[in-house]
Order: sequence, then structure tokens, then C-alpha cells
Amino acid sequence: MIYDIIMKKRRGGKLSADEIRFAVNGYTDGTIPDYQMSALLMAMCFVGLDAEETADLTMAMMQTGRTYDLHSELGHICIDKHSTGGVGDKTSLISAPICAACGVYVPKMSGRGLGHTGGTIDKVESIPGFRTDIPHEEFIAAIKGAGLSVISQSGDLVPADKKMYALRDTTATIDSMPLICSSIMSKKLAMGADGIVIDVKTGDGAFMKTTEEASALAYAMKDLADSMNRKCTCVLTDMDRPLGRCVGNSLEVAEAVSVLKGEKVPELYEVSITLAAHMLYLAECGDMDRCRELSEKAVSDGSALRHLEKMVELQHGDVNALHDISLLGTARNTERFTAMESGYISAVPAEQTGLAALSLGAGRKTKEDTIDKTAGIVFRHSVGDYVNRGDTIAELYSSVSADMSQAAARLASCVTFSSEKPHLPPVVIKEC
Ligand code: URA
Repeated sequence: MIYDIIMKKRRGGKLSADEIRFAVNGYTDGTIPDYQMSALLMAMCFVGLDAEETADLTMAMMQTGRTYDLHSELGHICIDKHSTGGVGDKTSLISAPICAACGVYVPKMSGRGLGHTGGTIDKVESIPGFRTDIPHEEFIAAIKGAGLSVISQSGDLVPADKKMYALRDTTATIDSMPLICSSIMSKKLAMGADGIVIDVKTGDGAFMKTTEEASALAYAMKDLADSMNRKCTCVLTDMDRPLGRCVGNSLEVAEAVSVLKGEKVPELYEVSITLAAHMLYLAECGDMDRCRELSEKAVSDGSALRHLEKMVELQHGDVNALHDISLLGTARNTERFTAMESGYISAVPAEQTGLAALSLGAGRKTKEDTIDKTAGIVFRHSVGDYVNRGDTIAELYSSVSADMSQAAARLASCVTFSSEKPHLPPVVIKEC
């Protein structure tokens, strides 16, 4: 039977809801082996799935596990937030506390890094003691106490996605629109928040390389949410270059805290405020101008930072580490990456930067790898800045690797310079 389903999809056929459910349930309970599911996923990647098949896949995946009704459980409006994956993307650690400070609950079930992209769970776990595997009752208590909670995907939430995601990561089947759509939406819909804001990354370091592909993904996710009476906004944002100055887990936590303390890292601030404003808008806190104003105020009056601190405390983390970054850990080794020529920096491609950070220890090459939470890259200059030959563009950090030449060579091969100041397109591309 699974053989016939693989063959049907491979030949360009449309799968029925029953066939999709059979494949998803069989893979989840172990009766369909990895090699057959890989073949089916690869056929789906090549042939695609239409809107009905994508919806059927999402529902089949969602129904392999427990579903929640967080609105009823919390007795309060709650808005979820997700990113399709980027490099240097720490916006959840900024926009979620902002919403919490404005009275909107944010129950955030997050993932680990995938490929060259980072994951929120790996980032928050760099805070000493912080637990992301807390029982459901503690998750609810943290949301009620802090207004937000970040936890890892529990075993009973969409187990099909846990297995399929890991399989896709190792079989080059991540960057498929219907597969990303069903992976994200099965988890988001299973959580039962009132609304969902999704940051759809597009560009070099994103899974969706073009604005057209990212738009198609955004509308597919919105349609799915709509069909389940859930409010959903997608914000398309640029991922041609890393977001913000830091890439790497503890470095990104420190950068998020600095933004919540008022430091204006322009593009990171803009994306975080835009996402927070959309979250507040879905929670009916006012029109978009008012929601933006509320978001900015939550940063400037320090209330968002206090909510982040409270969440860290309630999830057993060391709050002092948010203020004394040496408590987040200091890398044993550091090296400078310098400008090879004078001129304006014209490109810092995000994917190669993510891979450079990975080679320093900031991500996993295999599922079993442990992460060096101190590893990563801090940019002292970014695209559009003028540098002289020999100036430090970035600092590389690693505790696991004393030899950073591979990461430095990767950056050297992709960072480019020009004599003219490059035009910088806006970081927020589309809101829909
Ligand atoms: N994020 C997800 O949750 N799933 C994907 O497939 C890609 C990004």
C-alpha cells in the first residue's frame, strides 16, 4: 500500500486524505520505515501538493498527538508566534516579552536549530538553569505569572512532525513549501492559541529563497488557519543577511536583552516591533499604529524586559545572566575576521554565515551533536558600512574549536565589497 502511494505521488498524482493519513500514521507508529517515508517526502518535494493535500497532510499530522485549547485553559487571549527559520533571528525573545508586557499571553512552543538556521530553544537553554522541558502545569503557571513561556515541543504534540522533521533534515527535503506549511501549521493549530503571527523569512539564508515562494507559503498557512477559524498574519522579512549583529546562542540572548534595554539594532528592532505589533493587533489591542506605539513603549519603559526576567525566573533560569553576560559563558577562543579590501560591505550572505557559525560549534551537524552555547559570530560592521582593509568586520567565538580557519575562510569566500554604497532594501517586505 505505501509502495502504491509513493508511486502515485512520484507519477504526479493527487493523494487522497486516506492515503495521506495512512502514510503519516504508519510512519509515526513505526510500521512504515524511514526509507519509504523518505521516498514519499522526496516525491512530495518534486511533484508538490495542492491546497487540499496540504490541508489533509496538516490535519493528519496534527491528529497524531494531543491537541490543546490554550485559550480555554488560560482563560485569556493568547497569541502564538513562529519563524520559518533564519540566521541571527532572536525576535521571539523580544516580541514575546513585549506582548506579555501589553497584557497578551504568549505560549511559545519552539524548535531547535535546523540546518544552518538557529532555534529559540537552543538560545534560551544557554541561560544557566533555564528549563524548556517543564510539565504542562508549569508551562501554564509561567504564562499566567510572566505572560509568556518558551518550551520545547513536548513528545505528545504532533509526534509525526518530530519524526518527519528529523528525517527531512537529513534527506534534503526541508525546503518544500507544502512540507514546511504542514510542519508549522500542524504544531501551531494543535496549540490552540487565538491567533498566530508567522515571520516568513525570504532570501539567501531562508528556506524560501524568493519573495514569490515565501508569499505562496504565507498564503497557504493563512488559508489553513482560516479553515480552522484561527486568526493568522504573516510578515515576510529579509534573510539575505543575518538579522542583527550576533549569530550564536548565548550571543543572541545577550543581543535580545540589549534591545529590550533600549539599544537600537535597527533591523532587528524593526522586525521585532513589527511582529509584536501584529500580535497585539490580532489580540485586538487597537489599530496597527496604536499596537506599534504600545510595542515601542513596552521596550522604552522596561516592562518587556521585566516580563522576560519573570519568565526566566519561573523556568528556573539564572536571571542575573540577563544582566551579566559573562554568566552566559565566555568562549575560550576568539579570532578576528578582517576586511580583505577597502570599500563598502555589499553582502554578508546569511546561509554561509549560518554555516560558519555551525562550524564554530553554534549548531548541530548531526542530531546527536551537543551545542557550544558560547560559539558564534559578532559583527562589528554590517552591509552598507565602509571599512578599510584590515578593519575588524566580525569576531569569531568558540569554546570547542581552537582552529577557526574554516569559519573564517567561509566568511572570506562570501563577504563582498563595492566602491559604491549598496542600496539596502527594507527588512520588512510584506505584511499579509
Ligand atoms: N520550521 C518548522 O517548524 N518546520 C519546517 O519544516 C521548517 C521550519
